[in-house]
Amino acid sequence: MIDADLFPVSRMAGSLQGSEIIRLAGEINEKIRKGQRIYNFTIGDFDPALFPIPALLKAEIVKAYEKNHSNYPPANGMLELRNEVSRFIEEYQGLRYSPSEFLIAGGARPLIYAVFQTLVDPGDKVVFPVPSWNNNHYSHLSAAQAVMVETRPENNFMPTAEELRPHLEGATLLALCSPLNPTGTTFTKEGLREICSLVVEENKRRAPGQKPLYLMYDQIYWALTYGETQHVDPVSLFPELRPYTLFVDGLSKAFAATGVRVGWAFGPEHIIEPMKSILGHVGAWAPKAEQVATAAYLSNKGSVKAFIDELRERLSRRLSAFHEGFLQLKAEGFPVNSIAPQAALYLTVNIDLKGRRIAASGQVLETGADVTRFLLDSAGLAIVPFYAFGASADSAWYRLSVGTCRYEEIPEVFQALRASLNLLEKA
Ligand SMILES: Cc1ncc(COP(=O)(O)O)c(C=O)c1O
Repeated sequence: MIDADLFPVSRMAGSLQGSEIIRLAGEINEKIRKGQRIYNFTIGDFDPALFPIPALLKAEIVKAYEKNHSNYPPANGMLELRNEVSRFIEEYQGLRYSPSEFLIAGGARPLIYAVFQTLVDPGDKVVFPVPSWNNNHYSHLSAAQAVMVETRPENNFMPTAEELRPHLEGATLLALCSPLNPTGTTFTKEGLREICSLVVEENKRRAPGQKPLYLMYDQIYWALTYGETQHVDPVSLFPELRPYTLFVDGLSKAFAATGVRVGWAFGPEHIIEPMKSILGHVGAWAPKAEQVATAAYLSNKGSVKAFIDELRERLSRRLSAFHEGFLQLKAEGFPVNSIAPQAALYLTVNIDLKGRRIAASGQVLETGADVTRFLLDSAGLAIVPFYAFGASADSAWYRLSVGTCRYEEIPEVFQALRASLNLLEKA
């Protein structure tokens, strides 16, 4: 074993924070290996056995390889795909962006990386709400000064204009996401409108030639909204934000296609262009065959709509069943709660067991980590604490992801959870 201290890496790499979810996954896998029954609702992904990609998309991918689409794609993505995505976004969102304002990459992640690398200089302020997904890591990669704004359960953990206002002066990037990972909640039109007007105001105050306040809008979960919830976006609400807004989106969540690796960003061409150059050096293109296949698939409007509708229905049934289960436990007097599901694969649940004692052993659950471990050990329930998404360490809120959940197993999960809550007493 080489002593890593004798071979230092860059300060950036050496100080990258490990992912809390990956650490938790290690513990879970160890338990599964030992044969324990674990309800693993930690990962923001789909079990392909339960949620396969669209059959037509799969057939098109195979066909594209049979036609030997195995060489480099163009750096900004296949024109046929940019045409289709441009049409698709206009059809669903009413936004008109030309194919040259799109950049295709190997999923949404490289595009987020490219947004940061293109806009943010070392030391620049990047403002984002917490809990949120991975903005801390992208800030670290670009040596940004991360300004984390903690959101509140009474606002469904979405940031408000009031909360963001004190932090926007001099900032380079405001990173927003709706529907939001980890909460499965969304901006209301009014809430987003107020934030947008702050961005407009801040940019009016800046001198010509000064770097503006840009807005990254990650809408990777936009297709997965439930009930009355409707996806809203900054440019539809405030067309004057168009020169400042970069959208990040892709196949991964709307088509249960996280491993297919096709994502797209769209925004002003003068920003898309350097993003393309950066990702060209990284080589983070989506494979050419997948691009050809995605273009062919998206042109089948009827089957695309049918797929999205069915996926929404299946996810929302699971989320509602969990939500009702938690409300039932709450009604029984247990210290749990949940926010009504609005979108994505996630349910926001509150399990407030800090200070409770395990009657049999006398151990008092003192920290969030103690509670997470207790749920895993006693109920086999694996969910991700919000502190893994940047919320404060004493947060009693969790993300429960249903992309790996069989609907039939939900009653069992609650039986296990009820039994373990009954093991506790007030300290
Ligand atoms: C909010 C958000 N954006 C982007 C991504 C990454 O998407 P992709 O798998 O397409 O890189 C995720 C993945 O979990 C996500 O939750």
